[in-house]
Amino acid sequence: MYLLGIVIATVFFNAAKADYCGCKSLRPCYKRMLDALLVDDEEPCVENVAIGSSTVTIFLKALKTYCGYTVQVHDNFTTRENRNLFEVCVKKIVIINGTKPKGREKESRPIILLDAGQDAGSEPVAFALYIIEQLVACADNINMIRKVKWVILPSTNPDGLEYRRNKKEYWRKNMNYLQNKTYGVDITRNFDDSWNVCPITENIFSQTYQGQVNSENETKFIIDVLKRYKNDINTYISLRRDGHGIFYPYAARNITFNSIEKVKKRAGDVAAKVNHRAGSFQWFVNESIYNVNEEAHCGHSVDYAVNKMGIPYSYEMRIFSESANKYIKNFQSLPKGYEVSLRAGYFSGIREIYNSIINEMKQKKKLK
Ligand SMILES: *[C@@H]1O[C@H](CO)[C@@H](O)[C@H](O)[C@H]1NC(C)=O
Ligand SMILES: *[C@@H]1O[C@H](CO)[C@@H](O)[C@H](O)[C@H]1NC(C)=O
Ligand SMILES: *[C@@H]1O[C@H](CO)[C@@H](O)[C@H](O)[C@H]1NC(C)=O
Ligand SMILES: *[C@@H]1O[C@H](CO)[C@@H](O)[C@H](O)[C@H]1NC(C)=O
Ligand SMILES: *[C@@H]1O[C@H](CO)[C@@H](O)[C@H](O)[C@H]1NC(C)=O
Ligand SMILES: *[C@@H]1O[C@H](CO)[C@@H](O)[C@H](O)[C@H]1NC(C)=O
Repeated sequence: MYLLGIVIATVFFNAAKADYCGCKSLRPCYKRMLDALLVDDEEPCVENVAIGSSTVTIFLKALKTYCGYTVQVHDNFTTRENRNLFEVCVKKIVIINGTKPKGREKESRPIILLDAGQDAGSEPVAFALYIIEQLVACADNINMIRKVKWVILPSTNPDGLEYRRNKKEYWRKNMNYLQNKTYGVDITRNFDDSWNVCPITENIFSQTYQGQVNSENETKFIIDVLKRYKNDINTYISLRRDGHGIFYPYAARNITFNSIEKVKKRAGDVAAKVNHRAGSFQWFVNESIYNVNEEAHCGHSVDYAVNKMGIPYSYEMRIFSESANKYIKNFQSLPKGYEVSLRAGYFSGIREIYNSIINEMKQKKKLK
């Protein structure tokens, strides 16, 4: 543990001291983790650390070691550059006399599935780690992991993330080798739904090159997770960069479906919460993915989740808009220095998803 402690200490804890990372009180396993790994004057909060793939790996390793009853980490899939694609499951397990009682394990809970970073952005990855931290570390959030299971894919395009970080150029693809020293497929356009509704581009240099249907390991990984949990997934959110809003299906077509009104309502409820917390900077929008882009986005994981997996509550949530570029028309960049308020606002939106599910469960019980 000594070595891990040093690495954690230097990677993580080098900013100003904060009180329990925004928690009112810490859960015992997290406190043990910090006690074991922290040395004086170091920052225990993952949100104050520069996010690269090694940060993700180190943070998850520590959580697994100290909070293994609450956090499970799977790493069955890897990328072209051999980085792990992590699946993190967070749920409170009742422990009686040091063992997990059998029957309870089987009990199914509604799942909130989050993926982050398909478009190689570091901000969504950082936010996903923050959500994991808040769920695992904060005693005040214990209900959020007692009644709901969280499946979080915190970094679904780590090769793209590293490339973008190091080269500092606009990049949104993975790093799969194509040909002629050219790399990268746009994961956000690689899913097998309405894939060829948009014109197929043969231009392998394009940042929106869609590859072949489901061709990428990152895509296969997300689909594997969707398939394994589809019966229990209540809500799926794909966290992406360059924007400030929550967007409902569809992405590829300007049409609606049967249950769209309740899906829209949930988006509106989330937007209201975020605006209540952070709305003074810029209005957090709720819209369809198609309308916000003002054009079709084909092969989208949200369309795949709705049509192929039967998960109507599927959303794209765009956070922390950066400086404007040619791919975003609708968002001005947000003022600097408001990250803390924005993060809190976005988290209150995620918490609203949990609240909606709990209310839904209560209403179902009443009807019975
Ligand atoms: C990972 O792979 C192992 C071996 O094939 C399998 O037993 C396990 O169920 C897989 N786990 C997940 C989460 O897919
Ligand atoms: C995909 O994953 C497999 C198994 O993890 C790995 O051997 C292969 O190199 C990966 N390929 C690409 C193109 O990412
Ligand atoms: C826990 O263990 C103690 C001592 O072995 C026993 O008296 C008690 O009934 C156990 N509690 C439960 C809930 O199994
Ligand atoms: C790849 O490079 C070869 C040789 O330079 C060239 O003939 C070919 O057109 C290139 N292919 C693409 C798709 O650019
Ligand atoms: C959500 O979108 C609808 C329709 O555009 C709008 O009327 C409503 O005010 C939005 N809600 C919030 C909280 O922005
Ligand atoms: C989508 O359809 C709605 C209603 O028909 C329309 O108001 C909107 O402008 C359309 N969006 C786009 C981007 O064409």
